[in-house]
Amino acid sequence: MKYEQSERLKKLPPYLFVRLEELAAAKRKEGVDMIDFGIGDPDLPTPEKIVKTLQIAAEENENQKYSSSQGEKGLREAVARWYKKRFGVEVNPATQVCITLGSKEGIFNIAQAFVNPGETIIAPSPGYPVYSGASTIFNEADCIKVPLRPEKNWLLDVDECPVDAKMLYINYPNNPTGATCDLAYLQKVYDWCQQTGTILCFDNAYSEMCYDDYRAPSALQAGCDCIEFGSFSKTFNMTGYRLGYAVGHPDLIAGLKKCKGQIDSGAPIFIQKAGITALEMYHDDGTPPSAIKNNMDIYAERRDVLVNGLRDLGFDVAMPKGTFYVWFDCGMRSDEFVAKMIDLGIIVTPGPGFGESAEGYIRMTVTEPVEHIKEALVRMRRASVGTACPPKNKDGKNKDQ
Ligand SMILES: Cc1ncc(COP(=O)(O)O)c(C=O)c1O
Repeated sequence: MKYEQSERLKKLPPYLFVRLEELAAAKRKEGVDMIDFGIGDPDLPTPEKIVKTLQIAAEENENQKYSSSQGEKGLREAVARWYKKRFGVEVNPATQVCITLGSKEGIFNIAQAFVNPGETIIAPSPGYPVYSGASTIFNEADCIKVPLRPEKNWLLDVDECPVDAKMLYINYPNNPTGATCDLAYLQKVYDWCQQTGTILCFDNAYSEMCYDDYRAPSALQAGCDCIEFGSFSKTFNMTGYRLGYAVGHPDLIAGLKKCKGQIDSGAPIFIQKAGITALEMYHDDGTPPSAIKNNMDIYAERRDVLVNGLRDLGFDVAMPKGTFYVWFDCGMRSDEFVAKMIDLGIIVTPGPGFGESAEGYIRMTVTEPVEHIKEALVRMRRASVGTACPPKNKDGKNKDQ
């Protein structure tokens, strides 16, 4: 290599899906019809109303200019109104809201803004890779990975966390486990962060991906001395638009804005206009519009088919109440299972990609139509996947979260 990467960059592990994509591409070349349960990218379209706003807005010269790195006033106000409707929380759009380029950018930049070299970041394991990856490594911080455990319903236990950390990331509804939490849990974590002086970063990217009667809470319902990240990506099938928001304590938002001011010039204005339309589709009582409900009905049907199908194959799989992920113990090393599935033309994600403690686990995303899920289950049954390798500790019972 002519140009050597920085030491920090060299320390970053390759992004999880790059390797999986390579394996899948090789298989596709052989002519295998791959069924993809890998990356969490919705297959369903953005609601028409949002796309229409974007199209109209993109034609106007005013919307083709730089935005500001904190986001347009109109969208910050829309986020504040949405927080009131959805969570009953009042925030000041001038000081407590910042628009981000997807929530991923904010999740990374908040660490840039507040974490010094040698300070500690607490990240759940398994967890979204950015917390222990870029957020930690680019800031030369130490990452303490706190294991999430099935016997604790995958909820991070603050009693296992160091009390002298600078920042704690948590995320519910959770990627990769599909676990969800209630407000009492968030209150406990919030109080612990207050007592220990730890910055609470609540990653609420899946707040609207809820099933049955479950409605995900906001950390701001516990108190506003924290920062929460939300996203348009999964809620509105807008992953490619790169639009998210951060809401929370004015000092934390100010730090994020200062950091972003040096790095980006804000999301395109026409995309932010589409974001306003998206949030305003919500009803006044905070319930989602029919477009979002329909989405979730589709995911719920797929989830049911996949979870029940995996259970029939002998796996012990929880029925998630949030996200579009199905998470289970595959009864062998995750990479062995992934290789077996790739041979069958099925792409799944190995648990250890989210943290070593998830060895033996697999994540499947329900971004394939029901017929493809059924086809994948048929392929697995034919190859005796599951029945040939019963999962560890199987008691014959299925447990719901
Ligand atoms: C837990 C979690 N947080 C944040 C994100 C980032 O989403 P986006 O940057 O598209 O808002 C993802 C994406 O998969 C995620 O799983």
